[in-house]
Amino acid sequence: MKIGVCGTGRMGSAIAERLIALGHEVAVWNRNPVKTQPLTDAGAKRLDTPAALVEGCEAIIVMLLNDAASEAVYRGPDGILKGKLSGKLVIDMSTVRPETMRSIGASVTRQGAAFVESPVGGSTVPAKEGKLFALVGGEKADIERAMPVLEQLCRRIEQVGALGAGATVKLAINLPLLVYWQALGESLTICQALNLPADRLIDILSDTAGTPTAMKGRGAVIAKVLAGVPLGPAAFGLSAAKKDLATAVQYAKTLNAELPVAASALACFEEAEAAGLGDADATAISTHWPQRRAKSKP
Ligand SMILES: NC(=O)c1ccc[n+]([C@@H]2O[C@H](COP(=O)([O-])OP(=O)(O)OC[C@H]3O[C@@H](n4cnc5c(N)ncnc54)[C@H](OP(=O)(O)O)[C@@H]3O)[C@@H](O)[C@H]2O)c1
Repeated sequence: MKIGVCGTGRMGSAIAERLIALGHEVAVWNRNPVKTQPLTDAGAKRLDTPAALVEGCEAIIVMLLNDAASEAVYRGPDGILKGKLSGKLVIDMSTVRPETMRSIGASVTRQGAAFVESPVGGSTVPAKEGKLFALVGGEKADIERAMPVLEQLCRRIEQVGALGAGATVKLAINLPLLVYWQALGESLTICQALNLPADRLIDILSDTAGTPTAMKGRGAVIAKVLAGVPLGPAAFGLSAAKKDLATAVQYAKTLNAELPVAASALACFEEAEAAGLGDADATAISTHWPQRRAKSKP
């Protein structure tokens, strides 16, 4: 199948890599074309605009950072909405506001294309292995059309309602995980004076009912950082994580709801971002908190 991947950041690249490995004819577009190079080296075709991607492909997977990126890439000059959309399938996997999915979806379907939102759980490794968790929203017929592609990328696919429902559940999934990374930083802060070896402390804190499964992958990395090893490349950036908390808090306001714990965690992520950790992995929040206390000691 001719599949276009629109946005080849960490996740878009991992998804494109998987599609290439499966033998699809993959085309890519990214605002910064440099990021498409590893994919073109692997056999993908680079196209110059999102509109060209629409025209050159049967299905387009969109994987962009946030609402502003979505607005720019769909509605901008040479954006997705400027392409010949009739008959095409657009699957948007970005984590954005539910309202963004609804309004973009309406614009895409008005032009005769099928539109499915499918934000995902799981990071770059599950994406490369086809083991993402899709939170799907949209019309039944559009979702049925998207299924063969989603099944090649995901270990679990949950249809949760109309457009906007997928975005809502995705925000709900990330909320407790991101609060956990901050809470872990606070646990580490009160244990600091014990001077336990970092790997032992992380092992103890991981072997409890309150630990997310994400600790299986990230715990060892956090222990290394605590022991002084520099943090490697980000799987999920701290600024993107902050965006997810901010989006959840803003969205709750539209429902006349308050999210006090998420709002507090958001303030901590904002502080870490202001301290220069925006491009670091989101788990840097867990090591930033004890380090911040150590720095502020009289
Ligand atoms: N990483 C994860 O583990 C993970 C897991 C699940 C879901 N997500 C979600 O997936 C989405 C992508 O995440 P990621 O980790 O792949 O982020 P990323 O590596 O930062 O990539 C972001 C992508 O968005 C593009 N972009 C940003 N602002 C733009 C703008 N104004 N105009 C056009 N393009 C713009 C970037 O283009 P440039 O390269 O030109 O900047 C890049 O292609 C986010 O919504 C994130 O919350 C991430």
